[in-house]
Amino acid sequence: TLVRREDYLAPAYRIRSVELCFDLEPAKTLVSSKLAIERNPQAAPQPLRLHGEGLTLLRVLANGESVSFRHEDGQLVIDHPPADESFTLEIRNSCCPEKNTELSGLYTSGSGFFTQCEAEGFRRITYFLDRPDVMAVYTVTLRADKAKYPVLLSNGNLVEQGELPGGRHFAKWHDPFPKPSYLFALVAADLVAREQKIRTRSGKEHLLQVFVRRGDLDKTEHAMNSLVASVVWDEARFKLPLDLERFMIVAVEDFNMGAMENKGLNIFNTKFVLASPATATDVDFFGVESVVAHEYFHNWTGNRITCRDWFQLSLKEGLTVYRDQEFSMDMSGGASARAVRRIEDVRQLRAAQFPEDAGPMAHPVRPDSYAEINNFYTATVYDKGAEVVRMMATLVGREGFANGMSLYFERHDGQAVTCDDFAQAIADANPGSALSVRLDAFKRWYAQAGTPTVTARGTYDAENRRYTLTLEQFCGPSPGQPFKFPFVIPVAMGLVAQDGSSLPLQLAGEEAPGGTSRVLVLEHPQQQWVFENVDAAPVPSLLRGFSAPVNLDDGLSDAERMVLLAHDSDAFNRWESAQKLALSRLCAAAQGLGPAALDAPLVEALRAVLRHPALDASFKELVLQLPSEGYVAEHLPVVDPQRVHEVREAMRAQLAEQLHADWIEAFERNATNEAYAPTVAQAGKRALVNMALSMLCLQSQRSGDPVWPGRAYQRFKDATNMTERLGALSALVESHAGLAEPALSRFHELFKDDALVLDKWFALQARAPELDGRVFARVKALLKHPDFSLRNPNRARSLLFSLTMFNPAAFHRADAAGYVFWADRVMDIDAMNPQLAARLARVMDRWRKLAEPYRGAAREAIARVAAKPDLSGDVREIVTRALAED
Ligand code: ARG
Ligand code: ZN
Repeated sequence: TLVRREDYLAPAYRIRSVELCFDLEPAKTLVSSKLAIERNPQAAPQPLRLHGEGLTLLRVLANGESVSFRHEDGQLVIDHPPADESFTLEIRNSCCPEKNTELSGLYTSGSGFFTQCEAEGFRRITYFLDRPDVMAVYTVTLRADKAKYPVLLSNGNLVEQGELPGGRHFAKWHDPFPKPSYLFALVAADLVAREQKIRTRSGKEHLLQVFVRRGDLDKTEHAMNSLVASVVWDEARFKLPLDLERFMIVAVEDFNMGAMENKGLNIFNTKFVLASPATATDVDFFGVESVVAHEYFHNWTGNRITCRDWFQLSLKEGLTVYRDQEFSMDMSGGASARAVRRIEDVRQLRAAQFPEDAGPMAHPVRPDSYAEINNFYTATVYDKGAEVVRMMATLVGREGFANGMSLYFERHDGQAVTCDDFAQAIADANPGSALSVRLDAFKRWYAQAGTPTVTARGTYDAENRRYTLTLEQFCGPSPGQPFKFPFVIPVAMGLVAQDGSSLPLQLAGEEAPGGTSRVLVLEHPQQQWVFENVDAAPVPSLLRGFSAPVNLDDGLSDAERMVLLAHDSDAFNRWESAQKLALSRLCAAAQGLGPAALDAPLVEALRAVLRHPALDASFKELVLQLPSEGYVAEHLPVVDPQRVHEVREAMRAQLAEQLHADWIEAFERNATNEAYAPTVAQAGKRALVNMALSMLCLQSQRSGDPVWPGRAYQRFKDATNMTERLGALSALVESHAGLAEPALSRFHELFKDDALVLDKWFALQARAPELDGRVFARVKALLKHPDFSLRNPNRARSLLFSLTMFNPAAFHRADAAGYVFWADRVMDIDAMNPQLAARLARVMDRWRKLAEPYRGAAREAIARVAAKPDLSGDVREIVTRALAED
């Protein structure tokens, strides 16, 4: 059944406070709950309906007396609660944590108890008004066996602890901040903590703790450093201090998502806590920093101010992603490192959100309806939501945005609000700004799905030294939205002279030029801007820094793109020019409209970047990467995944061959002997060295020269950090070198006891470029490997998501075996963990774009999943939308 945004009603009852007691046992945990309930005087008298799912109810008392109740569609209904304005309700129930394979609610992982309550997991623990606009003060008592579960944690402050008979113990926690149930958490496990005290500007001292399993403590330093940096940053940039005496992070091996911002007790996937140079790559280190920051920032944007209902999810997620992106940029140093971060964020947006926005699951940043809310923790809500916040910041300026944030907290601290409330606060703090004067139109970004295309054409009038830029926008239909109103699109831009210099920008009617970069606001279907005093035909550099989440058709010639690639002062557009040059060749070749080869001028331009004395290694590595097969596919009307793979591999081989000497030079020049640090500068060098090594091994595969695979193997053996070791291993595996097999066994032997490293071992094999069906066959074999399990989400993702999301040529097989495999795994996983299954189901979103025979076979596989009788609501929503005719 569909939940609709327009059906929102304020709660008829509120819960002011709750006392919870847990007697924790894996097979049967007893929960007793005492709720202080109030009627909402604005609501008509009506039954009290509490959510509850998979619970065994033992007792209900109202004001201490028994009361009649019934069960109706997953709700506990009390038709005649006490007539008083406020009353207490006491409930006893049990649940079964060890059978909870969905990992939502209270579950066991390893030898401990953990919770995940967002979005609707709390109702799987006890009966409650499990909706974010019901905020209560929690007091929680945990009782458990002391030897097995020495650490007992919940939100807030520890107020009491002690011994109980029978080898048990207890701990009592109190959280003074009223919170919605989705922010509740408890942990009972055998853990150890890294601790650090920190003094904030107010002079208050706070205790920071990172809890992990015994033996993992040496992998927590980076997480702790990231947490300290996050606390300092939020106070400096947004004047938002840590409001808790104690802030805890707990790592758990079985977790559906990245992490969860429970008030004062963040629970994390181990992947985003544990990092040591020997076991984690530079990318992993960066992931830890970014997720620790994200969850910490939620303490204000999400917890202090939360969402009125789940349609407003982007209120906290879009804003918090924006904040973690800004943090990561500030942490990475200079302008070039910031640009590299921005490029990576945009690549992510284009790889995940743009296809989502063009497919059957397309939805607005603030969706209008859902069947299963877990399906809406999407790239659109998170990443496009962050872009919407970023555009607001662009329109009101950095200081204006900080003022807007202050007003937002002044108005709404302690409340559950909507995306409208946020936008209104930013606008009201900046009267007369480019945002405020068109706020209603701007808010279409929240309401309309789809990625707009901006078309730009310029004409130069030499006689009048005038350049006229015409911008047009268009957005095609999305499910349920046949027609779109124009968006408000900030277009950051500049004009670049043929010699590469930046031209002063003087719009017609202006007395003097206003800098060399500015923001044009496109708000109509078509608009024109006239620039005066332009000496010669310029090259427009548009959408600098990717100032809006749109597709840009700039109509530039190759020669003009070459100018931008060589000279643009905006690093993002420099990178983008190279991407567009390569993309046009890839698309032409994939459609049989051009050779499966790069032309000499482009190869020379790429060589110039690789050889450039001043450019950073990280930037070079990004420029030299050809657009992914998935990105190319999005730009084709009809996709033959095998053909895309073939032409891209041919171009990669060409770069390996024609830049051979340059790769050797890059490999040697960027090799570093510095002590390992996960800095952008070092990581950039390692990334470029790894890329060079891959290209050199690829070339050896063709030439038969054994030197580079030999060197890669040596480097693999001698590596002192995981980034280098995995890079060398990838170079061998990806080039199908003979040495790949001994290297893979050695790697397994070395790391067989480290789950996160084993995930890499599985992923690497599933991501190798397909060769005669070998990679697909290997994935099928790995499914039976003793270390493989579908129960652990990280492990399942490492093999299945790597194949289906990141290895199109191994997955999309003419014999349909990939789709059969996909359908079987979706159904296997659905029986245990519907959320995870639904995520895997989504890899077929774009099946309609496929050429035959892929398309027909894909439809058949999806239909087979859809026909399964006991399918979860999660997967049902995905496959139903995938098959819907629009
Ligand atoms: N709020 C968490 C985060 O973004 C994500 C939790 C999502 N959980 C879920 N079951 N959908 O930090
Ligand atoms: Zn979040």
